[in-house]
Amino acid sequence: MKNIQISPSILSADFSQLGEEIKRLEDGGADLIHVDVMDGHFVPNITIGPPVIKTLRNYTKLPFDVHLMISPVHKYIKNFAEAGSDIITIHPEATDNLIESIQLIKQLKKKVGVSLNPNTEINIIEKILKDIDLVLIMSVHPGFGGQKFMPEVIEKIKKLFQIKKDNKLNFDIEVDGGINFSNSKEVISAGANILVSGTTIFHENNGDIKKNIETLRSM
Ligand code: DX5
Ligand code: ZN
Repeated sequence: MKNIQISPSILSADFSQLGEEIKRLEDGGADLIHVDVMDGHFVPNITIGPPVIKTLRNYTKLPFDVHLMISPVHKYIKNFAEAGSDIITIHPEATDNLIESIQLIKQLKKKVGVSLNPNTEINIIEKILKDIDLVLIMSVHPGFGGQKFMPEVIEKIKKLFQIKKDNKLNFDIEVDGGINFSNSKEVISAGANILVSGTTIFHENNGDIKKNIETLRSM
């Protein structure tokens, strides 16, 4: 049985009680907490920054899977590391030097992820796959929760999984955006081992987080 991890996105949580929501996710069996950071420049939305992550750090021991949808990203990496991020994922388009940004995240002793937007091809990161811990494949255009899954990314997941196997690499494949009970099985079969979900986890089955996490994982 494949070890599938669930990383609920707090973008869909009640922002007036994020600490309690994170505790609900942990009690509901989440493996990671997906923190969507948006700056209104790289994406047309604004969410939270390092001070909020710092306070949320006290509410759980679960790893913070921090998705930086900000540009320029390099100069903020240290702030997010010190605030308590465990995985720091950046977009290649958001840095002038992807290798330097990857090295900085590793120097700060954090896991490093690189995110591919739906229109960004794998080949732009193929050379650095050996240097990273995670590839975050976007199955929506980043910026908002509740969007529709883009089925065309299934081929991209399959291709990335094949590259991972052919080169005996062990980065995680995380998929983010529009994941629900009808597409998660296909996403997992294509090669993903971490699923991000906000809307499905917080709103399906009258908001039964435990049931929704278990259902996604069991697909
Ligand atoms: C979108 C975010 C996703 C999104 C997932 O930019 O990166 O993490 O919040 O939320 P749902 O599951 O609602 O698509
Ligand atoms: Zn995200």
